[in-house]
Amino acid sequence: MVRYSEELIDDIKNSNDIVDIISQYVILKRSGRNFFGLCPFHKEKTPSFSVSPDKQIFHCFGCGVGGNVIHFISKIENLDFKESLEVLAERVGITLPTLDNEVDSKKQLLKEKIYEINKETALYYHETLYKDISKPAQEYVKKRKLDNKTLKDYTIGYAPANSNLYKFLKNKGFTNEEILVSDLVNKMGNNFVDRFKNRLIFPIQDVRNRYIAFGGRVLDNSLPKYINSPENIVYSKARNLYGLNVAKNSKLENLIIVEGYMDVVSLHQRGIENVVASCGTALTEAQGRLLRKYAEKIIISYDSDAAGQAATLRGLEILTNLGCDIRILQMEGAKDPDEYVIKYGNGRFNNLIDKAISLIEFKTKVLKKDLNLSNVNDKIKFLNEIAKLVSTIDNRMEQEVYIDKISREYDISKEAIYAEINKINYSKNQGKKILENNYKKNVIKKKETLPETLLKRENMIIGILLNGKTEVYEQIKNILSPKDLKKEQNKKIMQKLYEEFEKGNSNINNILEIFNDDEEIISILTGIMADDYEIKDDKKAIEDIINNYKKEKLINRKKEIIDSLNNGNIDKQETVNLEKELHDIIIRLAQIK
Ligand code: UTP
Ligand code: MN
Repeated sequence: MVRYSEELIDDIKNSNDIVDIISQYVILKRSGRNFFGLCPFHKEKTPSFSVSPDKQIFHCFGCGVGGNVIHFISKIENLDFKESLEVLAERVGITLPTLDNEVDSKKQLLKEKIYEINKETALYYHETLYKDISKPAQEYVKKRKLDNKTLKDYTIGYAPANSNLYKFLKNKGFTNEEILVSDLVNKMGNNFVDRFKNRLIFPIQDVRNRYIAFGGRVLDNSLPKYINSPENIVYSKARNLYGLNVAKNSKLENLIIVEGYMDVVSLHQRGIENVVASCGTALTEAQGRLLRKYAEKIIISYDSDAAGQAATLRGLEILTNLGCDIRILQMEGAKDPDEYVIKYGNGRFNNLIDKAISLIEFKTKVLKKDLNLSNVNDKIKFLNEIAKLVSTIDNRMEQEVYIDKISREYDISKEAIYAEINKINYSKNQGKKILENNYKKNVIKKKETLPETLLKRENMIIGILLNGKTEVYEQIKNILSPKDLKKEQNKKIMQKLYEEFEKGNSNINNILEIFNDDEEIISILTGIMADDYEIKDDKKAIEDIINNYKKEKLINRKKEIIDSLNNGNIDKQETVNLEKELHDIIIRLAQIK
């Protein structure tokens, strides 16, 4: 069987949103973070088929079928894994290499060359920045307050007015064809002309740190302010985010998305390292998925001008549809994050991060802008829209908090808001109740011969490991080995997960593909992923589980010892030893409780 690279499979998965794909076959309704519909793989009258946009998996609580987007296509279209990949790749315009095809391997080699050219170029421009001929650029970076470490972290460079990148690349041994494909040099008549001249250079890297494109800024106010590499065989604008290669190393759970190169580097320099830029264009779905992959929470911090706010709304749309947890950072007194952090410092920017508002609050603000609340008609309109917004919140408490806030802020009685929401909820709830009941029924219906609590505990452990945190694995591995689990398939899953962690691959995303041939295991895995085991506090949950296992082991040993002691046919020394051990166990058990 032909094996496509893991990277390629990832790329295809990332480009085909599972909700989009499944929606073409099943009518899906949103309920909380997930979507539900009638399972296309078994007959049912009420929906128990769930799709998680966060995890990009589907799972049916009725028949147990599950998997990722590739598995779905494979099942529904009755194709094998490779054929399904081909269908999905074709759909989004990704060309798959046929490994025995000469043309494609040539293209692959050319790509490698372009990465090389880009890297050489980035370093060349970066070094040039420090040379005497680069005085104007040196003054410019000083004016923009960029320090040496930042210049280095982002390989920022300078293409002088008289730069001759073409000659540099030729000397490095690259051919004319390769140099032209890189788009760093254009051919005009018989001449080779550099794309970037007298510009500060921001190389763009992908998550694997490969140099894929460049942006170049003028050093004054002339236009165009930036020119960028065009899309080519190594650069797809819609699939990359500037700075993600650096940001992904920051340990924070959220990612801040800004508009410009300068915002990324400026915040980074001031210790706010979890920043990426969409580079002034509308956020794409592929970028949204990329963000979601690396962060639990996304904070949009676009420019404060009208264009920036409009872009915020568009970005919100995309990210909400992908099921992301989003906050919007509100900035006053500066046009963009770079200016803000220079003016007011990182402490105050961090305050803004903490105070970033939710989607509902942002939409409320936008709504309010066009209305005059002292006008009765406008106020009614506002109330209606607010109710619609608030009724989309699933969590009761959260809903109450908003209603309280809105009521105070806009001087509308809480009762009026509740009345309006109740109207909306009435029809909605009817449908939702059926969904929820059915969901619960099916979860309980799943019959297992092993005790429910034990299975739940095993599932929780696997669920926790699937989060892919190495620290957690290190903590668990010394206490629990796969053979401690009772369910056969769980042992296999844990074994594989441990192997992946040992290999340093905490990208558990691919776990479903590892078990491609074992539908039962895939079903168990998607079941665990789809079930929200309410692991709110990972650390506490892990401690509880570990303690449970420790306790169990001790209790078993205690039984053994008591049996031996009761048996009587052991010598005195051993009796003493066992009694001592028993004593220890009792103390340790008491400590665990
Ligand atoms: P900005 O105009 O906000 O640029 O455009 P900036 O990065 O904050 O730069 P300074 O602070 O004015 O120096 C945001 C982003 O939009 C893209 C660039 O990626 C830029 O970083 N852009 C902007 C272009 O591609 N071309 C342009 O002409 C302008
Ligand atoms: Mn700016």
